Amino acid sequence: MFIISDASKLMEIFAPGEIARIYINFCDPWPVRIKWRKRRLTHVNFLKIYRAVMGDRGEIFFKTDNRELFDFSLGQFAQEGWRLDNVSFDLHAGADGPPPWNIMTEYEEKFSSQGMPIYRLEAYFDSREL
Ligand SMILES: C[S@@+](CC[C@H](N)C(=O)[O-])C[C@H]1O[C@@H](n2cnc3c(N)ncnc32)[C@H](O)[C@@H]1O
Repeated sequence: MFIISDASKLMEIFAPGEIARIYINFCDPWPVRIKWRKRRLTHVNFLKIYRAVMGDRGEIFFKTDNRELFDFSLGQFAQEGWRLDNVSFDLHAGADGPPPWNIMTEYEEKFSSQGMPIYRLEAYFDSREL
């Protein structure tokens, strides 16, 4: 099933616990105005929405070419109490290129072919953990 919608409306589409994992791939960095940061899909306001549709536990896999957005996102996940894992500042580094499990998106192909590093993280929460 494909749904084209605004991420801010996820709670109108999905019930709590219906989503286990969200992939955020190369979302718009909204770089210019400070007040536009609320539009970033990794802003704490969006993280609260994702959490609401995930129920007790959930995970987000996030990739971007934008270092400033990545640094911002690390802070937003930490602020909301998400556990970070597999944080990479250059996903495609190494002699063998990107890991075999990595699925390249259109923007990832575009930016990595220009030699730009790809930033990636996994964020987890489990409200049942102590
Ligand atoms: C730079 S494109 C990346 C496209 C694709 N994910 C890729 O990696 O090749 C950014 C995408 O984020 C989507 N986007 C931005 N804000 C959104 C929001 N609030 N809700 C849903 N999608 C959003 C845009 O529609 C656009 O498709």
